[in-house]
Amino acid sequence: MQQTATSGAVTLQEFELMKQAALFTAEDDRHLQRSYEILKDQTDDVLDVWYGFVGSHRQLVSTFAPDGGQPDANYLAAVRERFAQWILDTASANYDQEWLDYQHEIGLRHHRTKKNATDGVDATAIVPFRYLFPLVFPVIHTLREFLAKGGDDEATIVAMQQAWLKSALLQLTLWSRPYVKDGDF
Ligand code: HEM
Repeated sequence: MQQTATSGAVTLQEFELMKQAALFTAEDDRHLQRSYEILKDQTDDVLDVWYGFVGSHRQLVSTFAPDGGQPDANYLAAVRERFAQWILDTASANYDQEWLDYQHEIGLRHHRTKKNATDGVDATAIVPFRYLFPLVFPVIHTLREFLAKGGDDEATIVAMQQAWLKSALLQLTLWSRPYVKDGDF
């Protein structure tokens, strides 16, 4: 059935073509789902590392603060819970239309359209686009040590990390939509 993108999210058909462009296949689904088993009890440890990285870079953590102010601990904690869910959702690899709609929502929440609204906070108006894709590298790079804890062989660990990289690039692209001029996405 042809899905219509009334929500502004991409359709399943459009996403399929994006997956092809990223060389994302059923093997990647399988490796992500293996990673679910490994990561499901480690989300807190993963988030300690990722939050540590964001927290040690003023240009990143300042998006959790009012302009020129201190980071809002409650905001950081609330987002951290949704971030844990994101790890599980990414690894589940059940990328259906509901998931695509939620990816669109995550983009809006980084963009000025909906940033701060979920938690009712008064932080900076937007996550600047220029930081979105660069953060993919530290996120995927640091995931390796956690993926390795499942005891899989080296080739499987690499394949899981590559599946995560493809998924992250696809998701960040979906999140970019509100940042891109109408007609250019
Ligand atoms: C690999 C890149 C990134 C990933 C995987 C990521 C992931 C996430 C996730 C999963 C959420 C919660 C979404 C939800 O509400 O369900 C979130 C929110 C947020 N992220 Fe990111 N993010 C990335 C890049 C960035 C960067 C570069 C910054 C800062 C410079 C940033 C700042 C924020 C902020 C401030 C929120 C809260 C937005 C709100 O008000 O709801 N993110 N991010």
